[in-house]
Amino acid sequence: MNILAIESSCDETSAAVTNGRTVLSNIVATQIEEHKLYGGVVPEIASRRHLENIYAVAEEAVNKAGITKNDIEAVAVTNRPGLIGALLVGVNFAKGAAQSLNVPLIPVHHLKGHIAANYITHKNLKPPFLCLMVSGGNTVITEVKDYNKFNIVASTRDDAAGECFDKCARAMGLSYPGGVNLDRIATVPDLKKYPLPTPVVTGSELDFSFSGIKTAAVNILHNLEQKNEKADIPVLAATLRYKVCDILYKNTVKAAKNLGYKDIALAGGVSANSELRKRFSENKEFNIYFPELKYCGDNAAMMGVAAAFESERADSSLNAFATMDITK
Ligand code: KG4
Repeated sequence: MNILAIESSCDETSAAVTNGRTVLSNIVATQIEEHKLYGGVVPEIASRRHLENIYAVAEEAVNKAGITKNDIEAVAVTNRPGLIGALLVGVNFAKGAAQSLNVPLIPVHHLKGHIAANYITHKNLKPPFLCLMVSGGNTVITEVKDYNKFNIVASTRDDAAGECFDKCARAMGLSYPGGVNLDRIATVPDLKKYPLPTPVVTGSELDFSFSGIKTAAVNILHNLEQKNEKADIPVLAATLRYKVCDILYKNTVKAAKNLGYKDIALAGGVSANSELRKRFSENKEFNIYFPELKYCGDNAAMMGVAAAFESERADSSLNAFATMDITK
């Protein structure tokens, strides 16, 4: 089934044509340069840019796929979770497209899309497996019991890992998107020079907490500033990266052992992190799956692939939701 997929949950306007696990086209119009001026995503600007770009992006996706509009058999769209104004642009465009083409409309949860990014590259990957879903807004370990059946095993009690990277990067003077730039400039970690805490989450050995690490890194910078001293930013960045990835890695491996999983997939923007990929790649006890780098960030191809496994159908009353966990 040829699916035209639309993704506009944050700051990428994306459209793709997919068929099962195959990507026929994937167009991503990024707004990074504009949001960089403000140090982060400005929701109102994101919505306006989506509105300006979405038609051209969708048209290019259809043309690049080598099909015509009449070959589209369904329209899929991210309708949850994300920036509400940004989501609504994609949802309304998708409703119009589905109605005018007289094809089904498939609403898809954004995190299901991130997990499905793995199906594009790893054609044999099938549930059940364990997934570390780690992005700017989410950090969860979930059992993927079936393509549409999830059980959340652990989640963050405060900041997402990507948020911790982004906020610390900003305090270090790195430009948006912080997590990407922090990963790029990080060198060798030094926990003696820059001690960062290991958070303990009361009542759960698998849940995450990153706000204490974030505060500690920012305090290191402020204390040095007050003494008129400069931090060694590449070393501090590497220390933070090491600390966050160490926790993500250890909790995921512990969860896999506790639950008896052999297959572990990573998903979400932070799954592009070089330290995280290195840590998991070194583990020979489990089968480890990463999405290709081009499918780690937000893109419509992963949403189209997730839609292929989705039984839910919507009509013109479809709404968007800013928050919703993956089990709903
Ligand atoms: O999944 P994503 O594109 O958007 C959502 O949050 O849904 O994830 C974006 C997050 C941002 O926090 C960004 O800084 C982080 O992923 N990120 C990275 C890297 N690439 C993207 N964080 C650390 N290292 C990276 N290489």
